[in-house]
Amino acid sequence: GQGLKVTGVPGGYQGLVESRFQELDLRALANIIQRGGTILKTGRSQDFMRPEGRARAAKALQSQSIQALVVIGGDGSFQGAQLLFQEHQIPVVGIPGTIDNDVPGTDRCIGFDTAINTALDAIDRIRDTAASHDRLFIVEVMGRDSGFIAAAVGLAGGAEEIFTPEHPIHLEKLIERIQAGIRRGKSSSILVTAEGQKPGRAYDLAEQLRKRAGFDAKVCILGHQQRGGAPTAMDRVLASRMGAEAIQCLLEGKTHLMIGAEGEKIRRIPFDQIFGKRRLVSAEDVQLSRALAI
Ligand code: F6P
Repeated sequence: GQGLKVTGVPGGYQGLVESRFQELDLRALANIIQRGGTILKTGRSQDFMRPEGRARAAKALQSQSIQALVVIGGDGSFQGAQLLFQEHQIPVVGIPGTIDNDVPGTDRCIGFDTAINTALDAIDRIRDTAASHDRLFIVEVMGRDSGFIAAAVGLAGGAEEIFTPEHPIHLEKLIERIQAGIRRGKSSSILVTAEGQKPGRAYDLAEQLRKRAGFDAKVCILGHQQRGGAPTAMDRVLASRMGAEAIQCLLEGKTHLMIGAEGEKIRRIPFDQIFGKRRLVSAEDVQLSRALAI
């Protein structure tokens, strides 16, 4: 409605370096609100990390008379955007989009709500079999450096314990709690772990529980299914609001900032306030989950 022309860059920064563009007219954007993934595709770009790559990217934008860039991603993507602004004066606005939900300066990132609901759905099903067969399950969710998915899904899924990359593991106390539960007549439990440095952490935990306490824990790794599927209403609303605010910023000439969510409010956060910070999952949800799993 603003008379703007929107062009997509397929493949993220690498597409920009290679001067790939795709016109996003109104028809190209029809019927995508319910789709998972990204119609533009995405990927990491080594080229864009180098000044020469960014110079090619800036040239590609100028050759198309593109006046500003909206980047959807995490803080790594925004650091790239900041450099494009500093080195080539391209106005840039960032929108936080990662299922990890670990971008500083925003309570929510696009994709997180969908991912946790997908994982929760799986945990509910696992609970059915855990309860029917009297079993201990370890469910591994995504999150290399952060445990936001694990904390949310663990709490919502009634987990006995939540393992996050941010907090140390206390297996002995967990073993005591599981044994006390068994004495009280509890016959099944679910533990939720973030994958941490590499997928498969749940197998290591199962092995340790077997060695230390003789528990026979079943492992379920949810993996990349958490990054797909139809977005939840919450994510669609968030993405719509953030997208609109990003465009508003650029129309006002505001640049090198990120659109963030603070509760229900949409905020503008300068990139400088984000870089070098780390958003950590709080220990409270982890403790609450323990307290509730009686
Ligand atoms: O999207 C972020 C993330 O889901 C991390 O939690 C995870 O560790 C990583 O992506 C794995 O992605 P890939 O398999 O594509 O490297």
